[in-house]
Amino acid sequence: MKALVAGATGQTGQRIVKQLVAKNIATIALVRDLEKGKSLLPEAAELVVGDVLKPETLDSAIADATVIICATGASPSLDPTGPYKVDYEGTKNLIEAAKAKSIEHFVMVSSLCTSQFFHPLNLFWLVLYWKKKAEEYLQASGLTYTIVRPGGLKNEDNDNPVVMSSADTLSEGNIPRSKVAQTCIESLFQLQAKNKIVEIVAKPEAPEKPWPDLFANVA
Ligand SMILES: NC(=O)c1ccc[n+]([C@@H]2O[C@H](COP(=O)([O-])OP(=O)(O)OC[C@H]3O[C@@H](n4cnc5c(N)ncnc54)[C@H](OP(=O)(O)O)[C@@H]3O)[C@@H](O)[C@H]2O)c1
Repeated sequence: MKALVAGATGQTGQRIVKQLVAKNIATIALVRDLEKGKSLLPEAAELVVGDVLKPETLDSAIADATVIICATGASPSLDPTGPYKVDYEGTKNLIEAAKAKSIEHFVMVSSLCTSQFFHPLNLFWLVLYWKKKAEEYLQASGLTYTIVRPGGLKNEDNDNPVVMSSADTLSEGNIPRSKVAQTCIESLFQLQAKNKIVEIVAKPEAPEKPWPDLFANVA
């Protein structure tokens, strides 16, 4: 297995790259800024410069990767086209490049509540709406996929067990980014993760369950 991580310099993407490297999985980190990538990511990761909004950069970036984890996201800004471009068009471009390369598994970091059009987060230029459109594009792509929808992301790690649930069943809660990274990587190894949307939060009172059970529990 060789993994390409898009959004590798992001808060979640960095953790995904570090965890992949720690598991000795060959990793390509897709970065927009090479110097930023070098300063944040482990040396063992292969850094390639690319931009999901520049589809012509993606074929060579994917190179010999066999799986893709997409953790890109528009940063809050005054540009009303940010989420449309990054969360929808960009992900779509990466999905098309993945299809051309016969990628074996495409994992997309999305968000809780993407099906709720009137959710307050859509005040940020319809970010949930565009993520949902990207989810639908991935589901229709023919690629094997896992869509990971986390609750609010936290940088601090904690010992709270992961709660995993089916699409549109959770609407609140939060989760450390390290556990989102772990979920994305585990989904590459769990048969029961294939072609599913999984919603995740972490809760102190939740029972600790092994990964196969967590994924098997999702419809
Ligand atoms: N914040 C929350 O509570 C929350 C909750 C649920 C889901 N999510 C979603 O979870 C995902 C990860 O969130 P995060 O906060 O960890 O992300 P983040 O730190 O904002 O990182 C986003 C990444 O996307 C990259 N990116 C943006 N535009 C790109 C482009 N055109 N081409 C290639 N890469 C591009 C950024 O690259 P640069 O470093 O070059 O800018 C960065 O690496 C996002 O999709 C986010 O919407 C967030």
